[in-house]
Amino acid sequence: MWQGIFFWAPLVLGIQATSPSCRCFPNEPCWPSLQQWSDFNATLGGKLISTVPIGSVCHTHGEYAAYDPEACADLISDWGYPVTHYDTSSSPMASWFSNFSCDPFLAPDVPCNIGSVQWFAVNVSTAEDVQKTLRFTNEHNIRLAIRNTGHDYLGKSTAPGAVALWTHYLKDTQHLEYSSAHYTGSAMRLGAGIQGFEATAAAHAQDKVVVTGNCESVGIAGGYTQGGGHGQLASQFGLAADQALEWEVVTADGKLLTASPTENADLYWALSGGGGGTYAVVLSVTVKTHPEMTTSSATLTFDGTGVSTEFWKIVQTFVVDILPLLDAGAVAIWAISGSIFSLTPISLPGGRRDQLQEALTPTLALLKQSNISYMLTTIAAYDIQEFPTFWASFQAMNPHSNITEAQIGGRLIPRSTVESDLASLISAIRSIAEEGVVVSGVSLNVSRAAIPFNAVNPAWRDAAISFVLGTYVISTPHFLLPLSTNYLISTYNYTNPKVDIQCQSLMTDSIVPRLAALSPGGGAYLNEADWRQPDWQSVFYGDKYPLLEVIKAKYDPEHVFYARTAVGSEWWHEELDGRLCRAACA
Ligand SMILES: Cc1cc2nc3c(=O)[nH]c(=O)nc-3n(C[C@H](O)[C@H](O)[C@H](O)COP(=O)(O)OP(=O)(O)OC[C@H]3O[C@@H](n4cnc5c(N)ncnc54)[C@H](O)[C@@H]3O)c2cc1C
Ligand SMILES: *[C@@H]1O[C@H](CO)[C@@H](O)[C@H](O)[C@H]1NC(C)=O
Ligand SMILES: *[C@@H]1O[C@H](CO)[C@@H](O)[C@H](O)[C@H]1NC(C)=O
Ligand SMILES: *[C@@H]1O[C@H](CO)[C@@H](O)[C@H](O)[C@H]1NC(C)=O
Ligand SMILES: *[C@@H]1O[C@H](CO)[C@@H](O)[C@H](O)[C@H]1NC(C)=O
Ligand SMILES: *[C@@H]1O[C@H](CO)[C@@H](O)[C@H](O)[C@H]1NC(C)=O
Ligand SMILES: *[C@@H]1O[C@H](CO)[C@@H](O)[C@H](O)[C@H]1NC(C)=O
Ligand SMILES: *[C@@H]1O[C@H](CO)[C@@H](O)[C@H](O)[C@H]1NC(C)=O
Repeated sequence: MWQGIFFWAPLVLGIQATSPSCRCFPNEPCWPSLQQWSDFNATLGGKLISTVPIGSVCHTHGEYAAYDPEACADLISDWGYPVTHYDTSSSPMASWFSNFSCDPFLAPDVPCNIGSVQWFAVNVSTAEDVQKTLRFTNEHNIRLAIRNTGHDYLGKSTAPGAVALWTHYLKDTQHLEYSSAHYTGSAMRLGAGIQGFEATAAAHAQDKVVVTGNCESVGIAGGYTQGGGHGQLASQFGLAADQALEWEVVTADGKLLTASPTENADLYWALSGGGGGTYAVVLSVTVKTHPEMTTSSATLTFDGTGVSTEFWKIVQTFVVDILPLLDAGAVAIWAISGSIFSLTPISLPGGRRDQLQEALTPTLALLKQSNISYMLTTIAAYDIQEFPTFWASFQAMNPHSNITEAQIGGRLIPRSTVESDLASLISAIRSIAEEGVVVSGVSLNVSRAAIPFNAVNPAWRDAAISFVLGTYVISTPHFLLPLSTNYLISTYNYTNPKVDIQCQSLMTDSIVPRLAALSPGGGAYLNEADWRQPDWQSVFYGDKYPLLEVIKAKYDPEHVFYARTAVGSEWWHEELDGRLCRAACA
């Protein structure tokens, strides 16, 4: 008995000494002094950025107030553009995660404080910057975050009281003829800061294509490829994670490693689809590129005002009739917002105009039958084209994306549901759309090619549609909306958190479950989902979760990396003030 106590006491003390239960929070005695921050900055050659919230120009009070009505008006008018946020080291595109702090939409006299965004960012340009930062944050027990563009819907790149490794300026691109036991062919090494528009342009300059997102400013090597990554080439070549050949990373203990199918293969496996921000800091990813190809694409918009029965019949026809085209390499991006259906676009890389026309014929015929002239009166358009390159198609047919000003949820719908339970699917999306939620679907087939060795959620391989649901106030006609009094949906409200909480709860408790009911045991895309998703481990990662946990424990045993809903994040919990503390039972 005595021996037992003797044996255990130092161990317990040891744990307390090396693992305080919470990360050091700003203004606590453990927080580094100004001198220490300044010394740290000096070791980084001046690359330490002290966060100034971008809304500071809109406020007259508070620590960061820098009121400038003109600059504030510009900020507000540009708020919807991703660049307003991704060019900064701290502003998340999902505003919820800045916790209404220094919010430009609030009155000028509401104080501007740093709130829940990172206190500092390191403007990373070398592996040493990452290594020095890890040493500093480990030594001072400071929360660390990894931020690339700040696109993340689940707040994974935003962290209260943290130092963020900001990888945005890692912009090197290199074309390679790659040769390994697993792949021989053209490839590109992309610095972690490379965004979709830069990768597509660099590939195009070599007469190549590369898998990127539909939103051209999403980063490639960060959350996108690490989390799966879909886009208009995903049926043709697989997900972004399937393109990864090797990763250059710095691990939690400061080692610079390459992870590939032959070197640190477990880490390669986890980084390729197992979610961003938790295994290591990525400096670059090498991805496959493919030869340019003729691409056919079409857009279609129609309004179902007054003809809702026909409208849903047409949607149903569209969803099922394009399945064979998905198997031929097409991807369709479509949405239902109020009474408007829009397809923006469907593209068939490598395919001809007549193939696309044929797949859309039943949908177009039904539109005509349902008195298309009537439907055309308000808003309708159809455009189909064959482009000499994928690049030309993408430039002409892909609308620019804004940030998402809505509470969102998501679900992957299996092919089997579309094939054998179509009526239930249509009635579920109809009920959701009729509540005022915008339903957007990406129809695709990411398992045409051999499925590579990686951690992508297996639900992707069975999926025919990835749904993202958003609570927007619909500015287009509202015929679908019942005139009920308990109409709860609202666009993201910048001034009233209560409304946002209510919308997110509706998403979690009522909207997403309607799609989940059609896909029991199924999944959601971890990058485009509800940040409050229950059972997120299995929903976001499927049966890959246990192995991902093992790999996380091997490469980051001290849980240096944390991101909301990332593998291993249940080891921590966030207090209401943003303090990150070890979970009691982890
Ligand atoms: C408007 C919009 C459109 C979108 N369109 C698409 C789409 O078409 N297809 C699609 O698949 N997804 C799409 N997404 C989702 C997108 O894939 C995710 O938001 C993704 O997380 C973005 O990655 P990022 O690195 O650019 O963003 P960030 O928010 O900066 O980072 C996201 C996550 O990756 C981690 N991370 C970032 N950089 C690194 C690094 N260097 N090393 C390790 N971890 C890192 C972060 O810690 C965080 O966990 C869209 C999102 C938005 C807001
Ligand atoms: C770090 O040093 C640079 C250059 O000297 C300076 O511009 C920057 O403000 C410093 N950062 C902090 C957080 O003090
Ligand atoms: C996109 O954002 C810009 C800038 O805030 C805004 O002017 C524009 O109306 C937005 N577009 C859409 C379609 O919401
Ligand atoms: C970050 O570093 C890059 C060079 O890598 C530089 O061009 C850029 O201006 C820096 N940004 C900030 C905000 O310090
Ligand atoms: C089609 O719509 C037009 C315009 O609203 C209307 O005049 C016509 O009667 C409709 N025809 C049918 C067959 O519904
Ligand atoms: C994808 O397409 C292939 C044929 O190329 C087919 O065998 C497979 O069932 C399809 N899978 C899904 C999920 O659509
Ligand atoms: C946000 O909420 C406020 C207060 O309830 C309300 O006045 C405002 O109209 C809402 N804004 C939007 C865009 O819905
Ligand atoms: C968010 O704001 C609320 C209300 O001001 C505050 O109590 C809370 O501490 C903040 N949380 C974070 C993470 O900043």
